[in-house]
Amino acid sequence: IEPIAETIERLGAVVPDYPKPGVVFRDLTPVFADGPAFRGVVDALLAEYEGRFDYVAGVEARGFLLAAAAAYAADKGVITIRKPGKLPRRVFSESYSMEYSENTLEVHQDDIPAGSRVLIMDDVLATGGTLSATARLIEKAGGTVAGFGVVLELKDLGGRAALEGYPVHALLGY
Ligand code: PRP
Ligand code: HPA
Repeated sequence: IEPIAETIERLGAVVPDYPKPGVVFRDLTPVFADGPAFRGVVDALLAEYEGRFDYVAGVEARGFLLAAAAAYAADKGVITIRKPGKLPRRVFSESYSMEYSENTLEVHQDDIPAGSRVLIMDDVLATGGTLSATARLIEKAGGTVAGFGVVLELKDLGGRAALEGYPVHALLGY
């Protein structure tokens, strides 16, 4: 069978100048739309962290797909890391900048039992702004970061440096 990195490379789409001129956007929706490929990426990310997490956190919106599937497969709960104003109770907030926008993310203050080990999932690691803000949120909320699992790492954008000190597993890097 085809190695998962090759499947991602074969199915992923490359979109120049989206969402802004000069950005080369890697679109993973065809990977998620392919049954065996989607199962393959979720299983590969889970295998890396087996036995080392209590919850899976997903970052809105594309990270939700991976985190929900992984949490279900591992019989764990899922934590939602959301864009501002979406969570109804008391939240912690973190703002950050990325390649093509400025963003804020939030988590409910009481969604993570103290000391829980949280595996964080998203589709793409680019500048690392999103995932480093997510790590800060998990820690503010009382959890510990078990590590990060991403399908694709855009190495030129230096995301790994932004996540220094944490385990990072990417299935494919460009
Ligand atoms: C994209 C992607 C990651 C983030 C990576 O999400 O899904 O979450 O950017 O970039 P970074 O490493 O530079 O922070 P986006 O904010 O476009 O949101 P979406 O998933 O709702 O489309
Ligand atoms: N693809 C998907 N998400 C992203 C990208 C990309 O190229 N860059 C930053 N977030």
